[in-house]
Amino acid sequence: MKNRNFVIALLYPMLMAVLAMGCGTSSAEPVSSNIPITATSVVVAKTTSMPLEELIEEGDYQFESGCSGCHGADARGLPNIGKDLVESSFVKTTSDSDLSDFIKVGRGAGDKDNSTGVDMPPKGGNPALSDSDIEAIIAFLRSLQD
Ligand code: HEC
Repeated sequence: MKNRNFVIALLYPMLMAVLAMGCGTSSAEPVSSNIPITATSVVVAKTTSMPLEELIEEGDYQFESGCSGCHGADARGLPNIGKDLVESSFVKTTSDSDLSDFIKVGRGAGDKDNSTGVDMPPKGGNPALSDSDIEAIIAFLRSLQD
């Protein structure tokens, strides 16, 4: 009996020391830093889990190429061509998904809701604009609002 207690008394601090070392190592080197960025993770980032900043940057790029010709690079509008989308109460009060639907359809000059007599073409006239491109554009527009 005495002998057994002695062995436990000896092993216990050793065990603790090993555990403590184990913890030290794992906190010093986070596992995530060792995960390589693969093609798959890039594809995933392209859709829903893209960090907001990247999404806004992508939207800025898409807006510049597909919308700025009429709405101006800063989305502040161009006289008689495209409306100001920063001050727009329509943009402010429309949900992301409704705004996405709107951008896909546009608002022709003949539409009863059209206020300028100028066409807002579907997808700004670029049929290749994808849902994720539009999602990025909306994130960009939201970033311009106060
Ligand atoms: C060919 C010019 C043109 C292009 C390109 C264009 N728009 Fe427009 N857009 C307009 C015009 C004109 C209006 C105003 C229509 C009206 O009088 O109701 C408008 C209106 C809008 C509105 C509604 C604003 C409001 O307050 O009612 C949104 C949102 C919008 N555009 C987003 C976009 C986006 C996003 C793109 C790029 C994908 C784009 N537009 C490309 C001409 C354009």
